[in-house]
Amino acid sequence: MNHWEQFLAPYKQAVDELKIKLKGMRGEYELHNIHSPIEFVTGRVKPIASILDKANQKGIKLSNIETEMQDIAGLRMMCQFVEDIHVVVNQLRTRKDFTIIEERDYVTNKKPSGYRSYHVVIDYPVQTIHGEKNILVEVQIRTLSMNFWATIEHSLNYKYSGQFPEEIRLRLQGAAEASFRLDEEMSLIREEIQEAQAIFTNKKDKDQRRSGSNGPYKSS
Ligand code: GTP
Ligand code: MG
Repeated sequence: MNHWEQFLAPYKQAVDELKIKLKGMRGEYELHNIHSPIEFVTGRVKPIASILDKANQKGIKLSNIETEMQDIAGLRMMCQFVEDIHVVVNQLRTRKDFTIIEERDYVTNKKPSGYRSYHVVIDYPVQTIHGEKNILVEVQIRTLSMNFWATIEHSLNYKYSGQFPEEIRLRLQGAAEASFRLDEEMSLIREEIQEAQAIFTNKKDKDQRRSGSNGPYKSS
């Protein structure tokens, strides 16, 4: 499958580069002792079988997938609080290394399934030996709670091929409501939590200095 490998190479490059860059933002917040709105970042290139399935389902011609399939390259940024999502999106808007071409706010407007996340589609330039190539990348920004729900729903979706039995569908909607309430509760005690986290980070730093271990090699 040499053709696919060649086609997907810039997507892989984009995902690898963006993982480093977006994880780097978290490191910067830590360095400045500011609460990081980013908890962790993941990324993946869509597997070939999933690309073919989706193209088939949506009636996208393979010759058009570059422009019509926005999530061949995908990044996820997980946040502790709903408020952090907006901080992260604002950060992305100020960056000079890509252009945002679309935003979809499923945080305010949840999907009928109960799904919530903020989606940003970016145009990302990859430098290749044949020159610059622009790639579409979908970045999903969500809370840990939204991520938990979406992960479970996605695996069930897989099991039922998108055709949920009524009872499961309703349970998932209920779980989405519960997940939303959890986010709301956490937002209400956000300042308390952040204060506790700041004290904990300070103590950890002091302990580390005392035991003589130094920063650069600590795991991220
Ligand atoms: P796609 O054609 O699937 O890309 O839909 P779209 O063009 O309307 O894009 P959308 O912004 O809705 O989001 C697509 C991506 O969001 C999917 O690939 C999933 O990762 C995620 N997503 C959207 N809806 C759901 C959902 O109901 N459940 C889960 N688990 N994920 C979802
Ligand atoms: Mg899409």
